[in-house]
Amino acid sequence: MSKAVVVTREFAPGAISRKFLRAYCSPVTNEQGVVIGSVTTFEDISAHKQIDRMKSDFVAMVAHELKSPLASVEQMIYALQVGCQYEATNNCNALHKRMTTRTKDLLRLIDNLLNLSKLESGTVVFNLEPVRGDDIIREVIDITKPQADGKGITIGYHPCGEEWLFNIDYDHMRTAIMNIVSNSVKYTPDGGQVLLSTELVGGFVNIIVQDTGLGISKDDLPHIFDRFFRVKGKATRHITGSGLGLALVKEVVEAHQGYIDVQSTPQVGTTFILSFPLVQKNGASVPELQLTAG
Ligand SMILES: Nc1ncnc2c1ncn2[C@@H]1O[C@H](COP(=O)(O)OP(=O)(O)O)[C@@H](O)[C@H]1O
Ligand SMILES: [Mg+2]
Repeated sequence: MSKAVVVTREFAPGAISRKFLRAYCSPVTNEQGVVIGSVTTFEDISAHKQIDRMKSDFVAMVAHELKSPLASVEQMIYALQVGCQYEATNNCNALHKRMTTRTKDLLRLIDNLLNLSKLESGTVVFNLEPVRGDDIIREVIDITKPQADGKGITIGYHPCGEEWLFNIDYDHMRTAIMNIVSNSVKYTPDGGQVLLSTELVGGFVNIIVQDTGLGISKDDLPHIFDRFFRVKGKATRHITGSGLGLALVKEVVEAHQGYIDVQSTPQVGTTFILSFPLVQKNGASVPELQLTAG
């Protein structure tokens, strides 16, 4: 088989197929060098194509996310430049508020990006300590409340009756639970409800976050923990985000020997369940029997 001429071509077999194949075609010659046929091999390059697409989506997302806060900042600078002379004070305040919000969004995006890359490269040091679960959940609710109030969403909390502890890095865990709760608020229409609850089952705690929001379709559900994945649709188009939150949550949950589960019905709502092993005050693990007996 001659190696002199190799023709390659990439194509998608069938209009609705998600697969991409690369075909390599080489001529086969006899001893006199006369072409007597050809050999074609196919390589499945769907994974490369998907990574390419994710890279383009990412560049588009970063460009978009960086551009809007910068535009706000530019307007604010302009307003300051003219000394707010021609602007009502209220207008300046509104501009300032918007700029602060957008700058915070931007900082959160950068934090998520940095944390995720650190978690994935294994360079994060977790400072584990036994923490009372109730404390961290109440703190997350306090932080998320203004976001919920702004949309007329009520955040309820039904704690299990008993005190429980888990062995965690406080900051990483707070960020993870925050991501889940703020998603619930973000993807629930105005006037909806978000309910947090906890239950102790066989040496584990389940932290349950339930909302009455948009829900996630069966097709999208398997992808929500992928980096940069965002549900595309009419209802979500105007909601900003990076698609990094849940990827980060998954890394943090797994680093704490936990599990994450999600159930969702479109137009009805979504329930996320985070499960972690319980510990005693001294950090020792909780024997299963003690819990089932108590
Ligand atoms: N509670 C929820 N209800 C409905 N959709 C959700 C919920 N949480 C996450 N999603 C969907 O999963 C996608 C990925 O979530 P996430 O990684 O946090 O990214 P984003 O930055 O878009 O919030 C979101 O874009 C959204 O479409
Ligand atoms: Mg999110």
